Amino acid sequence: MIIGLGCLAHDHILATETTWEAGKGRVVHTETRFGGNVRNALAAVASLDHPAAYLGSVGLSASSDEAMADLAAHGISADFIERVEGADPVMSRITVTAGGERYVAFDDSTLATTPLPGEALVDAALSVADAVLVDACVAPPGTLQVIERARNLGVPVVLDAERDPSSSVLALVDAADHLVIPLGFGATLTGASTPVDIAAGLWNERRSSVVLTDGIRGCHAWESRELHVHVSAFEVTAVDTTGCGDAFHGAYAWSLVNGGALRERVRIASAAAAVLAALPAGAKRMPSREAIESLAAE
Ligand SMILES: Nc1ncnc2c1ncn2[C@@H]1O[C@H](COP(=O)(O)OP(=O)(O)OP(=O)(O)O)[C@@H](O)[C@H]1O
Ligand SMILES: [Mg+2]
Repeated sequence: MIIGLGCLAHDHILATETTWEAGKGRVVHTETRFGGNVRNALAAVASLDHPAAYLGSVGLSASSDEAMADLAAHGISADFIERVEGADPVMSRITVTAGGERYVAFDDSTLATTPLPGEALVDAALSVADAVLVDACVAPPGTLQVIERARNLGVPVVLDAERDPSSSVLALVDAADHLVIPLGFGATLTGASTPVDIAAGLWNERRSSVVLTDGIRGCHAWESRELHVHVSAFEVTAVDTTGCGDAFHGAYAWSLVNGGALRERVRIASAAAAVLAALPAGAKRMPSREAIESLAAE
């Protein structure tokens, strides 16, 4: 079972017919759906027919009830969820432009009232975990201890981080064995500018891999200070790239627990992201296993 710690988001989407540069555009599609990096990554894991579970607190509001229904509809187990007053989804408004670029504006004030579930649920989750996904920027206090416990149990931790380089985020970044982050945030964290220098700055003796994603330019990956792999993004007609990085994380973790070597992991991850990006507006955002595997095989 792949376990995820992060947050749930209630995403309100406005898709326009023009590109970002146009500055304005007519709305061609609206949609309300659930997201959050780890929620999206777990949906990709479930699409790939592997058990996935969210480990976290979820509130008692109508939006939280809908979030619970969304998890069930996407095959994500709620066995390790505690319902807690105030732990409601982050609210976000996402503008998607022609070509699939997106801008996410979010209100994450509910994270202050979203604790880690109690010890018994954490224990239960770790006892069945074959990998742990973490979104370092939004995971609740106590996540560092969960990561350390997972690693002591030999369970790999695949960590995402994309903004707010606070000391608590940095501690999580240091603790993970598989660090999978956007290239730009890697540059922020290290002060370096080339992928090689950024990866060198992020490497530590407890790492198993460092992967730097770079949108349409693909990704770079290392499994030692020296061993570098570059995988181009798959060419697709992107409709909505929201959550590409998240699908990438989910498929990476899925391949990892299935024994995939680094190149295979990033290839299947890139394929999952590309399939997601090309889904038509309004489609259920679960890239199918068949579509992912056939694109990865090209
Ligand atoms: N337009 C696209 N077409 C095909 N593949 C894409 C596209 N955009 C992203 N990808 C794939 O998804 C991976 C992750 O994308 P990116 O680096 O943008 O993640 P991110 O910044 O974490 O975004 P988000 O968190 O919003 O999903 C890329 O390395 C690439 O393989
Ligand atoms: Mg991301």
